[in-house]
Amino acid sequence: MNSPDLQTVAIDLADRSYSIAIRGSLFDNPLSYVELPGAHSALIVTNAVVGPLYAERLQKALAPRYAQVVTVVLPDGETFKTWESLNLIFDALLSHGCDRKTVLFALGGGVVGDMTGFAAASYMRGVPFVQVPTTLLAQVDSSVGGKTAINHPLGKNMIGAFYQPLKVICDLDTLKTLPQRELSAGLAEVIKYGPIADMDFLAWIEAHMDAILAREPAALAHIVRRSCEIKAWVVGQDERESGLRAILNFGHTFGHAIEAGLGYGQWLHGEAVGCGMVMAAQLSLRLGLVDVFFVNRLTHLIQQAGLPVKGPRLRPQDNAGRYLELMRLDKKSEAGEIKFVLIDGPGRACLQAAPDDLVRKVIDQCCVD
Ligand code: NAD
Ligand code: GLY
Repeated sequence: MNSPDLQTVAIDLADRSYSIAIRGSLFDNPLSYVELPGAHSALIVTNAVVGPLYAERLQKALAPRYAQVVTVVLPDGETFKTWESLNLIFDALLSHGCDRKTVLFALGGGVVGDMTGFAAASYMRGVPFVQVPTTLLAQVDSSVGGKTAINHPLGKNMIGAFYQPLKVICDLDTLKTLPQRELSAGLAEVIKYGPIADMDFLAWIEAHMDAILAREPAALAHIVRRSCEIKAWVVGQDERESGLRAILNFGHTFGHAIEAGLGYGQWLHGEAVGCGMVMAAQLSLRLGLVDVFFVNRLTHLIQQAGLPVKGPRLRPQDNAGRYLELMRLDKKSEAGEIKFVLIDGPGRACLQAAPDDLVRKVIDQCCVD
């Protein structure tokens, strides 16, 4: 199959607008970076898995533009999305005399991207940064839209900032080295866009799941582009989540409880979101917002993507109570009342509270020992 042509998706945010470039052979091509502002230094932030695969090639691509290109390698994984890792970025910036024009490059998945963005938002009160996402999840979701954060032991992504990148470079070739489990995790965020915004896209994913799992370039190009378009449409209307943007958190309220309750890194973020979408769909069903055929269709697709559809028990007794405790810490909660993203018709989402007894029934039904 021929490799797909370059595609670009625009994020329209007035003076914070930028573009997402999507194709193979992009991240190590100096032409990808020509329109970035000039600076003396660039700092590549990566991790111990992605660094050895790609950092040297990015370093070479940036060398013509920056007199100094430094690479900082963070420990890998969600458990390291912490203050300590963030400080390693500040240590590197300060020890290399990086000034306020220094451009940061996030080379990795969502963990590296979220931490690099937060470091860029706060170093010298804000320096430019570029996202070079190397997981499917990061290409279709986390690198776009400017949410940056680290975790707190009591809650996920609790400390962070809205801060937009200058550009996003989605190099589809980097997905070739991604473990299959990580590809499936990324598919959770791809599938998400169907029920909340575009049922035609959901049907397309259903029809092309084999090609996607086989990483056919045209299939990957399509899901990355369409996901970015939908995210751009949402973020363009509600950058700081005062309303609409919350729909992008479909499945995340239950999912974040799974991640925090089991301990970060036990389940992948995308796995928790996949299972969380099943729970949120079941809750929508119990509230009379969707029918059982819709819930079964979505559950089947999530399973087809290689994702869990049954949640873990977070403690032996009163498991549902533990989920509720964790979900009350969700960023969408108001005065301790949990707000769920629910589906109120195929392709349409809403934010609403639900009675605890219904939520408990859903959790009891959806969890296994
Ligand atoms: P991740 O960053 O941990 O990457 C997954 C794993 O794949 C890691 O081990 C990583 O080292 C490895 N990896 C990355 N690229 C690779 C490649 N090309 N080849 C081989 N291995 C590779 O996880 P993720 O799923 O990318 O991101 C999850 C994070 O994103 C979570 O912390 C979540 O909260 C965050 N997130 C943020 C947003 C947002 O809007 N900012 C949205 C969704 C998720
Ligand atoms: N991934 C959720 C958001 O960007 O709002």
